[in-house]
Amino acid sequence: MQNLKRYPVRKNELLQAWDSADELILKHMKAQDLTGKRILIINDHFGALSCGLEGQDCTTYTDSFVSMMGIRQNSAQRVQPLNDLKALTGLYDFVLIQIPKNMSYFEDILCRLSQHLHAQSQLICGSMVKHLAPTSFDLLKKYMGETTTSLAEKKARLVFARFEKTTATSPYPQSVKLDGFDLPFSNNSNLFSRDKLDVGSRFFLQHIPKGSFTSILDLGCANGVIGIKAKMLNPQAQIIFSDESAMAIESAQTNYQQHFKDEARYIWTNCFEGQPRGAVDLVLCNPPFHQGTTIGDFIAQQMFQDAFETLKVGGTLRVIGNSHLGYQVKLKKLFGNATIVDTNQKFLICESHKR
Ligand SMILES: C[S@@+](CC[C@H](N)C(=O)[O-])C[C@H]1O[C@@H](n2cnc3c(N)ncnc32)[C@H](O)[C@@H]1O
Repeated sequence: MQNLKRYPVRKNELLQAWDSADELILKHMKAQDLTGKRILIINDHFGALSCGLEGQDCTTYTDSFVSMMGIRQNSAQRVQPLNDLKALTGLYDFVLIQIPKNMSYFEDILCRLSQHLHAQSQLICGSMVKHLAPTSFDLLKKYMGETTTSLAEKKARLVFARFEKTTATSPYPQSVKLDGFDLPFSNNSNLFSRDKLDVGSRFFLQHIPKGSFTSILDLGCANGVIGIKAKMLNPQAQIIFSDESAMAIESAQTNYQQHFKDEARYIWTNCFEGQPRGAVDLVLCNPPFHQGTTIGDFIAQQMFQDAFETLKVGGTLRVIGNSHLGYQVKLKKLFGNATIVDTNQKFLICESHKR
């Protein structure tokens, strides 16, 4: 485990690529007879579980591009995760889950999983105690059956369940009506603000520019609401949607196709890595302030850097963030210019031009 690296690899990285919940799950699995058993691994962060169980009959699933790259990198490409729950096949004897923070996503996972379990299937869920939401027990009881827990060890805990219920149908994606849009949006479970319009997004929607753009990037698109509004105001432009969540990309695609007949582009990646430079006229970005349970502005910084590189000379990056995050200072450093477009009590919208 000591050799595992997070993705992307950063100089002087202080955070490790696994947690004590990974260690507890692997310790538990070492004591099991795995001969002839099919194992499903869900939400492996950077490959600790997949690599720790290499040689067994394992399938790995993740919604996260960053995790997928971490798992591939740490397994020297031997593990190729699935990124769609609909791609699961057959029945699994053991299911190992790093419980996500988002309980709608956990519910979606459990419902879809119920179609791939038998009466002897065992679920072993791990979490750091500080992230273990009481709702996760309610959902396990609802869709699986009685749960038991391990003692907490190194601030982590395991939750065990067997499949005692019947198969369930997932309530996701959900159809959600958003203010200002005639057609409903299809929101997958692992989406930012999946049941309503976020207050920041609502403010940002009032400040989408209109101009002679031919190419507009919705960076960190979630359900695509920002890019869809940009297309309404700039019908001549091609829209590019990118996000590191596969569910976000799927929702953005469904929603765009509901609204427009032309082709948009959909890119599942970390920030905008690996994409052409000097290709876009306008980037719209409402950056996240966490990756999984890791909080910080490192993703926003990387998004600004990638936006700078993908913009044409003369292109614009427009960003929204909580006022205290000081994005205008960071943009000024990177672009050499930054202007404030609007502010309210909580948010600040600013923009920079590539010169
Ligand atoms: C604050 S939400 C903004 C969603 C939407 N654009 C809006 O304004 O309502 C940030 C989005 O960034 C995505 N994200 C998080 N980390 C990312 C990364 N490393 N690369 C690309 N997108 C990421 C999240 O999945 C989420 O959809």
